[in-house]
Amino acid sequence: MSEPDPPLAVLLELTHRCPLRCPYCSNPLELERRGDELDTATWRRVIAEAAELGALQVHFSGGEPTVRHDLEALVACAAGLGLYTNLITAGVLLDEARVGRLVEAGLDHVQLSIQGVDAAEADRIGGLKGGHARKLEAARWVRAAGLPLTLNAPVHRQNLECLEDIIALAVELGAKRLEVAHVQYYGWGLKNRAALMPTRAQLERATELVEAARVRLKGVLVIDYVVPDYYAQRPKSCMGGWGRMFLNITPSGKVLPCHAAETIPELAFERVTERGLAEIWRDSPAFERFRGTSWMPEPCTSCDRREIDWGGCRCQALAITGDAANTDPACGLSPRHAEILALADAESARAAPAFDYRRMAKPLAVEA
Ligand code: SF4
Ligand code: FES
Repeated sequence: MSEPDPPLAVLLELTHRCPLRCPYCSNPLELERRGDELDTATWRRVIAEAAELGALQVHFSGGEPTVRHDLEALVACAAGLGLYTNLITAGVLLDEARVGRLVEAGLDHVQLSIQGVDAAEADRIGGLKGGHARKLEAARWVRAAGLPLTLNAPVHRQNLECLEDIIALAVELGAKRLEVAHVQYYGWGLKNRAALMPTRAQLERATELVEAARVRLKGVLVIDYVVPDYYAQRPKSCMGGWGRMFLNITPSGKVLPCHAAETIPELAFERVTERGLAEIWRDSPAFERFRGTSWMPEPCTSCDRREIDWGGCRCQALAITGDAANTDPACGLSPRHAEILALADAESARAAPAFDYRRMAKPLAVEA
């Protein structure tokens, strides 16, 4: 077995707590509790281990990472080790002073999510009254502090009609990058799939809009575009290949090859409290299971894209076909491809059901 290259980036899910309740959240349905979160000293050790392993970037995520009062200390730790630091936030708990402290700590970049442009509608989707207005304020503080800003806009059947306005908002807020990401069906997103699935006509219109805006806004705004797998002909290279470029660490310290990996029942995940990050990355059975190409079935084994998309997404193969070791059914060459298309067509043709909002078993506890 050859040794894997180091990961490019590690994503630290500092907490699963979040004041928003987005119905497409990729966190697991069983959210981890505050009492199970790693403490500051352990996160610091993990960041140092990531740097030693050779990772270049640390993404601070959640849940909502700003509920942790040690966020500045963790950013400073990563920046001090020469790592590129990115904060992935809903922004609603930020204030101007905190943005300033994060800049002082060495934060390099902010990714801020938005749910739409109409405040009432965006608040309905995110499940937090007043959330949209607070996000706009947060975006302005981030830009005023001189930090580069990426706006993340998860899109779906209930907000695609305002895509043009989302693009205009990104320009108005001074974002350098906008990620228009059709929601992915994992975690709460999978649970709410019928409420989120766009029609094929919506998708085509959105793609045209993005292509036109890319031309019109060249030099002003970079637009990344994530298309929905269910209408694709070839799958995405999920996580850049299992155990190749990225790893996620959950609030309690489980090390995962992707955010949805815990849905795969055959896998057991090691914790940073039990073993060093480098050892887990190199030889943990969960990382080895789908690393490279040797696990692949046909048609992937003999396909010339097998080292481009790495067989697509294991969690999607599981969700649709019942076996994570199958070819991703988003691939037109998969024998199960017709099933995913039929699902998309059937769900988008029906009236959208009510959202089943993300929730903890008990109400959110923000640190005092
Ligand atoms: Fe990718 Fe496998 Fe489809 Fe080839 S057959 S495009 S490797 S998912
Ligand atoms: Fe798990 Fe794609 S989300 S492999």
